[in-house]
Amino acid sequence: MKGLILAGGFGTRLRPLTYTGAKQLIPIANKPIIYYGIESLVKARIKKIGIVVGDTAQEVENMVGHGERWGITISYIPQEAPLGLAHAIKISRDFLGDEPFIMYLGDNILKSGIDEFVRQFQSNKPNALILLTKVSNPQEFGVAVIDDKGYVKKLIEKPKKPPSDFALVGVYLFDKQIFTAIEHIKPSWRNELEITDAIQWLLDNNLKVESHIVRGWWKDTGKPDDIIEANLLVLEGIESFNKGTQKDSTIHGRVQLEEGSHVEKSVIRGPVIIGKNAKIRNAYIGPFSAIGDNVIIENSEIECSVIMEGAHIKNLEKRIDRSIVGKNVILVQSNDSPRTYKFILGDQSYVEIIK
Ligand code: G1P
Repeated sequence: MKGLILAGGFGTRLRPLTYTGAKQLIPIANKPIIYYGIESLVKARIKKIGIVVGDTAQEVENMVGHGERWGITISYIPQEAPLGLAHAIKISRDFLGDEPFIMYLGDNILKSGIDEFVRQFQSNKPNALILLTKVSNPQEFGVAVIDDKGYVKKLIEKPKKPPSDFALVGVYLFDKQIFTAIEHIKPSWRNELEITDAIQWLLDNNLKVESHIVRGWWKDTGKPDDIIEANLLVLEGIESFNKGTQKDSTIHGRVQLEEGSHVEKSVIRGPVIIGKNAKIRNAYIGPFSAIGDNVIIENSEIECSVIMEGAHIKNLEKRIDRSIVGKNVILVQSNDSPRTYKFILGDQSYVEIIK
């Protein structure tokens, strides 16, 4: 069985972060989102993975490489434009051949992993296996109607009036019938070949579509709040270690201090992860914060936030909460005159100031 990871798309809902990088490379607990998908596939003993890439192909390839670090092979499949999940499968036909495969959306994270679904697929041999989970906002996802025996009756992509609250999770297992289904579907209103429509075609043609309800959390990290939430969920499961140094500090709960990190005159309340060579001085780092490599935090307080590589945060009077700070961002409070705000903000940045 092969793996297909989708890492194209524009990531418009994650701007400005996605102006300078692929959304699948945004760090969750200091690890690119896409690594979670790759590691789930590796754990399910998948040895060959194809990654479908778009405009950010080069960055994804630079970060992920060709699989050496996981002992597998990774190849890249360019998609000329984000024309839908079914389109991504269609252009991967040569890579996939006739073998069954798992498609994993590169911005999804599942706590439970996927081993169980791979086993179910291999023993029952349906034409497709989809994963479902109950959500409070089904209109933002593909939605499934299932009967009381758990059989899938109908699938609808982002319905205005959702007939159920079961969302399609971004992990799908297929056999080669999906290629026939894709040949028969038409682009949707958003001009995409929807995987939901292709699976509906399988249902309409009496092919076997099984479903599995996901236990444990699942996150589609399409929006800023999802990043903060996924970061929180991953950090909830970390174990402590200390490869860094500390002086005159109090460290509570589960905290990971990476190599070269230094904490001085500070309070760290876990779960928190502090990246390589990060320097924390006279600061408070509260629960569910991920501090990236080479970050400097001085005289400031941070909670439940993602602070990416190389950012500097100094002398802030008020606590930063539920925030995402991009790579090399500088956030300082100064006493210089005139006492004005000074911003250099990229397009679509978001700043909230309190009195
Ligand atoms: C896609 C699928 C949708 C699914 C979701 C899961 O949505 O079209 O059916 O529920 O992924 O992450 P998109 O990310 O394209 O909005």
